[in-house]
Amino acid sequence: MDKNLSAIIFDLDGVITDTAEYHFLAWKALAEDMGIRFTREDNEMLKGISRMESLEKILEIGGRSADFSSEEKEKLAAKKNDHYRTLIQKITPDDILPGMKEFIFSIKEKGLKLGLASASKNAFAVMESLGLMEVFDAIVDAKTVVNGKPNPEVFLKAADLLHVDASTCIGMEDAVAGVEAIKAAGMFAVAVGKRESFTKADMVYENTAFVSLNEILDRYNQE
Ligand code: BG6
Ligand code: MG
Repeated sequence: MDKNLSAIIFDLDGVITDTAEYHFLAWKALAEDMGIRFTREDNEMLKGISRMESLEKILEIGGRSADFSSEEKEKLAAKKNDHYRTLIQKITPDDILPGMKEFIFSIKEKGLKLGLASASKNAFAVMESLGLMEVFDAIVDAKTVVNGKPNPEVFLKAADLLHVDASTCIGMEDAVAGVEAIKAAGMFAVAVGKRESFTKADMVYENTAFVSLNEILDRYNQE
């Protein structure tokens, strides 16, 4: 099999920009409205997970899973999303996480393709605010996939749109469910976050500022 690297496929929230923090703040406000205590640790397990699944987990934490009809749950999720949309309005290209702009452009310079595989239905709006819409060759968001992460569908779809074989892609994630999706897609996985959280990743960077394309290429080629 041709292992020559063809593309790097990014998660958005928490990898390219710190929207993970805005998701947290919006969920925390909603949880508090319902009298549910919701911590940053709780939030870790929501990373990479769809809006409705996140709500279900929060209700579970508060022991309130059985208290709402599906219609009421839709309303709660919409309320969180309205708050989130307000928070992301202030995003500008300056909100790209440290090192990521340079990293993205170094990938382009090497002639590799750039893909986005996001679990968010707001991915296009965020990419637009970051000024990255034209930079990426393919963008896949939650609106067009059936199965959320850890299912590999969103990464496989991005590889498809890029016309490359999944086995020649590197995926980059800040969520455990996201790394599982990358590995299930048969890709090399680079995680961003606490080393101990990412036992399944091929490489882990504790901070986006340390990400180096040459280092990643060396490790990818050793596989
Ligand atoms: C993921 C985030 O990228 O998108 C999750 O990591 C979030 O925290 C999910 O719940 C869905 O986002 P949205 O914008 O569709 O509510
Ligand atoms: Mg993420």
